[in-house]
Order: sequence, then C-alpha cells, then structure tokens
Amino acid sequence: MCGIIGLIKLNESDSAIKDIVNGLRRLEYRGYDSWGYAALNGTNILLEKKIGRISEPSLNGQSAILIGHTRWATHGGVDEANAHPHLDCNGQIAVVHNGIIENYLELRERLIKEGHTFKSQTDSEVVSHLFEKEQGSLFDRAKRIAPLLKGSFSLVVISAAHKDEIVAIKNESPLAIGIADNEIIFASDPLAFIDKTNTTIFLTEGDIAFAKKTNNKISFEFFNYILNKSVDKEQIKLNWNASETNLGDYKHYMLKEIIEQPKVMQDGIDFDSAESLANEMRGKKVIAIACGTARHSAVIGKHIFHKIAKFSLDVMMAHEFVYFVDDLDKNTVILAVSQSGETADVMECVRKAKQRGIKVISIVNVPSSTLARESEKVFYTNCGPEIAVASTKAFSNQILAFYLIAHALQGNLKSQIINIKSVIDLLSQNMSYFDLKAREIAEYLKNKNHVYMLGRGVNFPIALEGALKLKEISYIHAEGMPAGELKHGTLALIEHGTPVILLCPTDYTYYDSISNGLETKARGAYLIGISDKPHPSFNMWVQLPQLDKENEIFYPLIETIPLQLIAYHTAVLLGRDVDKPRNLAKSVTVK
Ligand code: M6R
Repeated sequence: MCGIIGLIKLNESDSAIKDIVNGLRRLEYRGYDSWGYAALNGTNILLEKKIGRISEPSLNGQSAILIGHTRWATHGGVDEANAHPHLDCNGQIAVVHNGIIENYLELRERLIKEGHTFKSQTDSEVVSHLFEKEQGSLFDRAKRIAPLLKGSFSLVVISAAHKDEIVAIKNESPLAIGIADNEIIFASDPLAFIDKTNTTIFLTEGDIAFAKKTNNKISFEFFNYILNKSVDKEQIKLNWNASETNLGDYKHYMLKEIIEQPKVMQDGIDFDSAESLANEMRGKKVIAIACGTARHSAVIGKHIFHKIAKFSLDVMMAHEFVYFVDDLDKNTVILAVSQSGETADVMECVRKAKQRGIKVISIVNVPSSTLARESEKVFYTNCGPEIAVASTKAFSNQILAFYLIAHALQGNLKSQIINIKSVIDLLSQNMSYFDLKAREIAEYLKNKNHVYMLGRGVNFPIALEGALKLKEISYIHAEGMPAGELKHGTLALIEHGTPVILLCPTDYTYYDSISNGLETKARGAYLIGISDKPHPSFNMWVQLPQLDKENEIFYPLIETIPLQLIAYHTAVLLGRDVDKPRNLAKSVTVK
C-alpha cells in the first residue's frame, strides 16, 4: 500500500509543491493515514508531513525536484515521525517508500552502531541513512544500496547536495514513469500523472531509474541491479482517459461506480478474450486465486462454470493458496482475479507458480498493472478506473467475464450474448427502483449492530459480497452465509429484530432458501427478501425483475446491485467516509 510520487521539472516553479500534492491526491486511494512531501529549494529541503487526509500544502517556495507520499501504516504508528518522506541525519537526503524492507532491523542496528540517528519506527528510514553513508551521484549510490535491501520496495530519493538529480528503485512494489513536456514524474500508479501525459515507462524488478537535468533538458538512464547491467526501457502510450476519474455530479465515487454498472458491463463484453482464456483452460485443472471482492466473484465463477459448462473450477484465497503452490503439477493453470492487478498476496502466488513453470492467466481491470504484465493471457474487465475503496463495478465485470468464459468453454458464446445483454438492460431499467428500496432498508439497518445475509448456490457468494460491502463502509458487523449452514450454529444469534437479508431469486435454490428464511423468521428475524417473487414472510422486499428459466443463472448480475446500494446508503446515513473507509486502502500491496 502507500502511494509514492517523485517529480523533476526542467525549470523551478512556485507551483511545483501544489503539483506534487495534486499528484498525491490521485494516489490517496493507496493509503490515507498520513501524507507528506519534500521539495528541493536552493540548498535546502522543504519538508511537510501531516496526519489524516491530504489537505492544502502550507509551505511555499520554488522547486523543480520533489517527492511525496501517502501512507497506509505498516511499521510504526500513525504519527508525523513515521509519515514520509524520511530524512538522513543531516536533513540533506529525502526518501519515499512503498513496500516493506524485510531486513530493516539488521540494517538499522548496523547504521545506529555507525552513529546514525533514527527519528521514526519505520522500515523505510534505513534508506535515507544508507544514501547518506554512500558517496557519488544518486545513481551510483542507488546501485550500491539496492542489492542490500530485501523485501518489496519502490523508492524515490532526492538530495540537497544533488540539486539536479532524482533516483528511483523498484522491486516488487509498482513504479511507473510519466514523460511529459519539461517534466518527468515517478509514481506508484500512472493515475498520478495521466492528466499530464500518457507516455509511460513501467519499471520492472531490479530497475533503477535515474533522471538528471543537463544542458536544458532532462535525460534519464536505467540500470538493473539484479542483472547488474544498464537496460533500455520501452515507452508506451496508455490508452486512458483522464476524465474517467472525475466525480461529476455524484457525492461519492462509490455511488458513481454503482450507477454506471450497466454501461460498464456493456463495455466489458469481450469475445476474443473469453475464447482465448477458455482455450488455456480446456483439459487443465484450473485454480482461481484472488482476495476480497475478487475472490467472491471467483466463487460465483465456480458456480457459473459448473452450471454453464460443467467445468470444475477451484477457488482459493491467494494468501492461503501460497501454502499449496509448491505442490502443483504442470497440468494446472492459475487464474488470478484482481481489480488492481497489484495485490501482494496474489502476486506472490503468481510469481511462485511461474517459477514452477505453471501457466498464469488473469482477469484484471487495470491494464498497466503488474499482474496484467506478468500473465500469459489476460481478460481485461474494462471498467475504467475504480476509485472508491469498496469494489463494485469491477466485481460485476469480473462476474461477467466468468459468464463469457463459461459460454466460450461450452462453445455457445455468440448465441448467448443476446441473453446477457437483455439482463444488463433489465438492470438499467431497475437501477432507480433499487436505489429507492436501498434507502428504505438502510433506514432500518443503520441502528443495528449485526446483519446476516443468506443465499444458496450461486447466491451464497453474493451474500458474502453484500456483507463485505456493508461492513467495509458502514462498520456494521455483517455475515454472509450459505443459508443451509445457519442451523449448524449461527442460528443461535438470531433474536427479535435481527436483520436477515435473504437472496432468493426463483432459481434452482428458491424453495430451500425460503425454508431457511422461515427458520430465521420463526426466531424473530426481520426478513428482507431479495427476490423476483413476494413472500408473506418478508418484512421488506426488493423486487428483482423475473428472468426466464433458461436465464436464471444470470441473477447475480442483477441481485448484487441492491446490496451495494444498501451498503452505500447505510454508510451515508451513518456519516461514514464512504470512499475511503477507515483502516483500508484500495490496493493492498503488502502481505
Ligand atoms: O485489487 P484486487 O481486486 O486484487 O483487491 C482485492 C481486495 O483487496 C479487494 O477486493 C477488497 O476486498 C475490496 N476493498 C472490497 O470492496
């Protein structure tokens, strides 16, 4: 987690500090405990660090070389001392870091013995002291320091004694370079500079990038410390639209991203990628790995694959799968599912699997992500940037990808697309109604401490996802469960007025689900039915449009949306920070 940024401009300007903070704002989704920046100003380093969300910078001064950081705390509490940038003993070198330096304790002890004074508890501060200790240009120092570091890190470093230089090192944590007119930007995500340029270089493991102002131009060089040689890097043009990140008239990104789902689903239909992934899967043992919401979509995918193509898909949480990866046989294909394509738990499995010669294919949203670049074949969900921490539109398009791949496996993709499109149309027609009902339900839920969501078959992972959304942004405890499991223990928690949301479209699970709902009702539950059919036991009912028997497997594309809206409106009523819930970050780049 954490977002880092570095900037080198050809000419000093008064607005450079504002520029770095604006770039940082676009990375705030990566962590928002605290933030800070350092700017070279003559022979000084101007430094400001603050706790909480990014606000206006309070320092002024001309600068052409700056770094910035937005933090999600790992080592050391949330305070100004632990916020980045970190300086060396003399305040001459400033460093920002994303990732974890695993051997920092040993390096720190050695540096302290040598007389260095540390001001923070972070793993990152060792880097500024290591740069202080070395001699030569920032490039030379970086080449000697990078091999000493273990773990995941992207780093950007500046020095008051090197007033025309900036250096960056990348290992495992992402780092991109944006090449704009008269300035070069280093950032954890191109989102930070996409308003300035779409010409990008992605650094890969072991890369050191060095930029220097000479003869009225900025030149750069690359060295890979793992290969121990200079390398050339390819510049690519990102096909991104900066306006996609605008909030428009919406109050929150989450609401914007929920409402735009029917359009985004249309954009997510991709026959070629579905066929291509299906070709990689036929005759193989396929294991989907993912975390959080992406894993819920994969569990839905398991049901979809079974129902549509009689294809068995295993699904595992990436952070648990890592303990199995050493024993995989070569007939296995890993299907990694991720919105960001940067989740550390997923990437660890991907790398370990690849080392064993296992093929990795993926369903990813961010086209420039590490996962996309390291996968053999990719299905891009094509949602555009998802800014809210709570994933919504990426989830829907991941499910869509599973439908398309399942039909490709079954060999009837083209003939099924009309059905999928008509379901998307139905969703579009029902969006305002879902929003209205969600507001009513949120009024009931806002004062509750516990909410249960139940479903069977393909509806069970939707219950998991609905519960995750609710707890993530409203901070109300919510549990998603297979409805059949309730009587094996959890039923003991149901008492008068306990909200139970029952996902019971009239599909193959309907009658059993209703029975389980009635069991809760008999114990006092307040039953909220999500179904195309009314039932006398429902205290509240969200009416789904009815799908034909042959299309009942598509209910997930519709029934998730009321749950997303219920979570959203409950969080709003409780005054929560909807787009940036406490303790979380959008992209989880630590293990
Ligand atoms: O970027 P990814 O899809 O790999 O992220 C995985 C999870 O961290 C993510 O889905 C998380 O659970 C969401 N915040 C849930 O809304």
